[in-house]
Amino acid sequence: MSLPAEGASRDHPVLVVDFGAQYAQLIARRVREAHIYSEIVPHTISANEITERQPGAVIFSGGPKSVHIEGSPRIDPDIYRLGIPILGICYGAQLIAAQLGGEVSRTGIGEYGRTAMTVRTPSLLFGPDEDETAADDGRQDPDTLFGPEEDTERPVWMSHFDSISTPPDGFVVTASTPQAPVAALEHPNQRIFGVQFHPEVAHTPGGQAVLERFLYQGAGLAPSWTTESFIDEAVAAIRAQIGGGRAVCGLSGGVDSAVAAALVHRAVGHQLTCVFVDTGLMRQDEGQQVIDAFRRSQGIELIAVDAADRFFDALVGVIDPEEKRKIIGELFIRIFEEAANQVDGAAFLVQGTLYPDVIESGSDSAAKIKSHHNVGGIPEEMDFELVEPLRDLFKDEVRAVGHELGLPDEIVWRHPFPGPGLGVRVIGEVTPSKAALLAQADAIVRAEITAAGVEREVWQAFAVLPDIRTVGVMGDERTYGQVVVIRAVTSEDAMTADWARLPYELLEKMSSRIINEVDGINRVAYDITSKPPGTIEWE
Ligand code: XMP
Repeated sequence: MSLPAEGASRDHPVLVVDFGAQYAQLIARRVREAHIYSEIVPHTISANEITERQPGAVIFSGGPKSVHIEGSPRIDPDIYRLGIPILGICYGAQLIAAQLGGEVSRTGIGEYGRTAMTVRTPSLLFGPDEDETAADDGRQDPDTLFGPEEDTERPVWMSHFDSISTPPDGFVVTASTPQAPVAALEHPNQRIFGVQFHPEVAHTPGGQAVLERFLYQGAGLAPSWTTESFIDEAVAAIRAQIGGGRAVCGLSGGVDSAVAAALVHRAVGHQLTCVFVDTGLMRQDEGQQVIDAFRRSQGIELIAVDAADRFFDALVGVIDPEEKRKIIGELFIRIFEEAANQVDGAAFLVQGTLYPDVIESGSDSAAKIKSHHNVGGIPEEMDFELVEPLRDLFKDEVRAVGHELGLPDEIVWRHPFPGPGLGVRVIGEVTPSKAALLAQADAIVRAEITAAGVEREVWQAFAVLPDIRTVGVMGDERTYGQVVVIRAVTSEDAMTADWARLPYELLEKMSSRIINEVDGINRVAYDITSKPPGTIEWE
């Protein structure tokens, strides 16, 4: 197989300029879904720095501010002279209007949520309905790009207070809504576009098509970012980095480290040794699944350490959550080091760092949030060069790569799991018997989620064992048993989350199975707290 040059599918990234809203990551993901590589850059980037990146296009994200506020984020105005196609979204569109001589007004009336937008003029962004024009190969016929002759209404998602009132010279207003006379504008010759609505959110049904028209027709980009192209390029880059050296990788049981290991194994085979530390605080059967998936199926060298006793010994009498985390984290690193030292001459450490981790560590406040999650992270005193083959990927892309590399679904689709594992889901002192009880209840929750086919809609679903006993009655007997709490949330990125509206029948099934099958549990509760104000985990 001949490998493309490193970075081939990333040569002309779409740069998503982050103006401070939470939407930049979502936009970048949507661009990737259109098979075009994208990266997020800060709005402080200069026009020269942008030129150096040779982007295929630039997208301005929305932002929480008004362009009228002193100190609201701007972009180097020289960017408009570079000839690079630009799409501004919401605040980004208003900024284009303001910086190029148009007017943005404070109307005093905002527009939030679903709105009917009227397309007024033929527009590259709002071409005709796809099914009318799609050619056999699914591509649009260029002659029909300039769309509807008559006004058409489209549902879009709005979230703005200010509105563009006058477009800059040379711009055409292509769509409007009752509160936004300029809901979309464009300068087709300069290839600069703006939309007041949010095409990246699921609530704008044709939003992805708008983004794709901008990327394919507006910017002339060809889809080249695929799972296969990523794997080919990553394999070449890993080979170039590791050469003839040896690498170690800590497997946590989760999808990120598993995919990183499988990718490095594809690149350098037996030069990679994986280390799996079984803390005794893993999900049920997880240790064996990791061993089966890696040692047996993939033929990867694996050092598996059963360290459960050491962890339980270290946790005797500890009830404070932070102290638990610290003890588990430090012990994990020590045991990992002992195992890694068995690999002679290992100079590289493989880590499953993802793109959101990279973006988050760029900002102080986000970095703090992450730091309490880094159990199982790099032992700092170890003198390794890092290999981070997934640092440009979003989670859904990591899953696609894992699937392509032949990892089993139960690993690829595994829900996130905290480094300290069941240690922070057994509230109060952690003992082997409580951990076993919780693992059993947790396995039932996850099995029923999978059986109901909602595993991929739910971000995490698990059981918690609070330190509570309650009275019950089973048969003719009074019981005094433990409570299990079911926690299931939906989320995009774990920064915010909502409790999952699981069907009552599913909750009932979980409850009756837990009470009937797990000895010592006589009550099951469901956690209906979102994040914020709660966190996903209980400790
Ligand atoms: P919280 O509970 O803060 O969790 O809402 C957000 C996400 O992070 C996971 N989590 C951790 N992951 N080490 C990790 O690797 C940790 O110490 C840790 N604590 C929480 C949690 O499962 C959720 O996905």
